[in-house]
Amino acid sequence: MKTDLKNKKINVLVIFGGKSVEHDISIITGVQTLNACDKNKFDVTPIYITKQGKWLTSNKFYNIKTFAKNVEVNKDVLEVTLSTSGNLFKVKGKKQTIIKKINFAFLATHGSQGENGALQGYLEMCNVPYSSPNVLSSAVCMNKYFTKIMLSKNNVKTTKFKLIKQQDYLKNNLKPLKEAERLGYPVIVKPCSLGSSIGINFCKTYEQLRNAVSFAFLFDDNVLVEQCVQNLKEVNVALVGNRQSCEISQIEEVLTDKNFLTFENKYLNNNSAKGMESASRIIPANIDGKTKQIVQNYAKKAYKVLNCKGIVRLDFLIDTLNNQVYLNEVNTIPGSLSNYLFKSQDCSFGLLLNKAYDYAIKEFESSNGKVINFSSNVLSQFEDGLKCNLKK
Ligand SMILES: Nc1ncnc2c1ncn2[C@@H]1O[C@H](COP(=O)(O)OP(=O)(O)O)[C@@H](O)[C@H]1O
Ligand SMILES: [Mg+2]
Repeated sequence: MKTDLKNKKINVLVIFGGKSVEHDISIITGVQTLNACDKNKFDVTPIYITKQGKWLTSNKFYNIKTFAKNVEVNKDVLEVTLSTSGNLFKVKGKKQTIIKKINFAFLATHGSQGENGALQGYLEMCNVPYSSPNVLSSAVCMNKYFTKIMLSKNNVKTTKFKLIKQQDYLKNNLKPLKEAERLGYPVIVKPCSLGSSIGINFCKTYEQLRNAVSFAFLFDDNVLVEQCVQNLKEVNVALVGNRQSCEISQIEEVLTDKNFLTFENKYLNNNSAKGMESASRIIPANIDGKTKQIVQNYAKKAYKVLNCKGIVRLDFLIDTLNNQVYLNEVNTIPGSLSNYLFKSQDCSFGLLLNKAYDYAIKEFESSNGKVINFSSNVLSQFEDGLKCNLKK
């Protein structure tokens, strides 16, 4: 790959949108990423995935105003598809014409299939390297339950929790609710695999718990009830890297005017067009040196044990009374790709994308050396058709 790209620009996709409750936020991150990409290095093709799952491209996608109305195919907006050969095709009725071979994809697809490994798996089938963690890592990080299991097995502290599965809840809701109550009120109820604080509720009574769990099941088959962190301070840190090495950003403190970070706090503050960049924050976070060290150590450890790659943001909850630090969640495609967290290290958004590209390509090239073919004479037994018994 290296040689044929020597004097040419690298054909990259910036993919955003998709079938997700975070669709609109993803558009903001996508447009920011499109505009930040190093145009000397990359030949950029925007890919907007509609809520129905269509892949569209247009030069108009650099402008956020394009998305104020529903985007539909017209003379400026083409429908496209990525083939398993890694070629991007224009689709018109039954006709498909090749546009270009794709070398890399930057993913700005928050939530659901864009972040849970599904899109990542598709890109792997197409042999297109990409900027986010791999299929398994994306799937684990998307699921708050599996993330907690992985973290606690590796001595990274997370809050105590109870998982409730919808099939068990439908049979008997009293038992799981009573078990969840043992965590002690207040508790917080969350759908297992959503984001942007959607479907989340605090509860102080059994009544509230039951309502919150039923509500969370509207979004997910699995629901987490978690012990609440009191005297809460929320800090986030991002990393960019791969399995071999990574760089850590400044730590931010996220401010909220409610008792938890709501969708409004995150995205609808004074400058909503800036997505996650618009949330109220202090950089660097107002925490002491020891707490900072714990956050950094947990973050680096989690990035490693969760097999992360690319730009990933880790969100922490701190109880300021006893300085206990809990890793709350891992965002494998964070809002605004966390670019604002790296700025104080003299790293522009464009440079950060270059870094993410370099790290991902290194990992792609090293994993490409793995044996995926194995010659055997198993099939020679079947020269006369499927008559003989296969010994396994
Ligand atoms: N265990 C907890 N104790 C106190 N507050 C919490 C806890 N878990 C989450 N929160 C609050 O709820 C917000 C959203 O929860 P989070 O797990 O980050 O879900 P999402 O994936 O939707 O962002 C957090 O930013 C924080 O403000
Ligand atoms: Mg969160």
